[in-house]
Amino acid sequence: MENIRVELGDRSYDILIGNSILENTGTKLKTFNFSPKIALVSNELVFSLYGEIVSESIRKAGFDLLTVIIPDGEQYKNIETLQYIYNELLKYKLDRKSALIALGGGVVGDITGFAASTYMRGISYIQIPTTLLAQVDSSVGGKTGIDHKLGKNMIGTFWQPKLVLIDTNTLSTLEKRQFLAGLAEVIKYGIIWDPELFQFIEENKEKIIGLDSNSLNYIIKRSCEIKAEIVSQDERESGVRAILNYGHTIGHAIETVTKYTRYLHGEAISIGMCLEAELAQLLNIIEPSEVIKIKDLINHCGLPCYLPGDIDKIEIISSMYFDKKAVAGKLKFILPERIGKVRIEKNIPEEILKKTLKL
Ligand code: NAD
Ligand code: GLY
Repeated sequence: MENIRVELGDRSYDILIGNSILENTGTKLKTFNFSPKIALVSNELVFSLYGEIVSESIRKAGFDLLTVIIPDGEQYKNIETLQYIYNELLKYKLDRKSALIALGGGVVGDITGFAASTYMRGISYIQIPTTLLAQVDSSVGGKTGIDHKLGKNMIGTFWQPKLVLIDTNTLSTLEKRQFLAGLAEVIKYGIIWDPELFQFIEENKEKIIGLDSNSLNYIIKRSCEIKAEIVSQDERESGVRAILNYGHTIGHAIETVTKYTRYLHGEAISIGMCLEAELAQLLNIIEPSEVIKIKDLINHCGLPCYLPGDIDKIEIISSMYFDKKAVAGKLKFILPERIGKVRIEKNIPEEILKKTLKL
């Protein structure tokens, strides 16, 4: 089992990565000073696959367990589902020393983390992420939240988990499209931070997509190490953490304009990473050969790289100004200088942006 530490003073925690480690959940819980009541939040699909093994392990370790099943899907990451979770926790009399466990993808992780951060002014929680995206990104770093009718992830907190437990075996049941969307975030870590990781994906993409266990362990471990290092340096995104948003300025606009129905997050981010690399090239920040490498890898991993002609590009631009990353009407872009190094740019001339979008 690999162990990566997120260093945040008295809020530091471990990320444990291994195969078939769900059955260790109970033993790991016992290493904390939680009260005997524990609540696990999941959805029907994930609970039917992994609920029993996790629940049994928790009960075996001597805890009383409440299971809260929420509906599956981003459209349920909202205040109504949150209210349902609070109701269940209050009825069960979960106390301030209790812990919540999030078993699922990023949706379950985000809403459970938000519930934990607000229930009785904040209780502990543990992430057991079961999608690749959640394992390499959303379960680490303490961003929690729900969506608002007027915008995605608009209500949230920074609240770090006490532990992240990643069982890579859970990826065997994940739909390929979901897996590839998670892989987009791994490619992102290569571009923003680690050329060796980028090269590893280039050389091992068939193995990774075929779920070869050593390759998976390597990319997940390396992604978590990078995220842990960035979050340790800048927990609340006042500096370097912003680089995790590479591909997101254009990517989020694509998701908004297509109403979150056409692309998975990782797919929209893939188009965003390709276009933001092209933007960097137009600004002479990066060599064309590096941009080709970025676009080739995204393409070869079965991810989209181009903005389809039927998407309104004017709408894409105006949507960028409504993003929560835009401050005082200024867009913020993370632009690659080369594979492994990015910079933050705030003053991009609109005509270059239009040229990037072929307007
Ligand atoms: P998701 O949670 O919706 O999961 C995708 C689908 O896979 C769901 O249908 C889910 O039930 C299913 N699933 C989960 N694990 C499975 C498994 N092992 N086998 C089979 N099916 C499985 O989507 P996601 O991509 O994991 O997360 C997206 C969410 O994460 C978004 O809400 C996004 O805003 C959030 N997010 C948060 C952060 C953060 O830092 N907090 C970062 C990135 C994304
Ligand atoms: N997913 C971006 C972040 O955690 O900052």
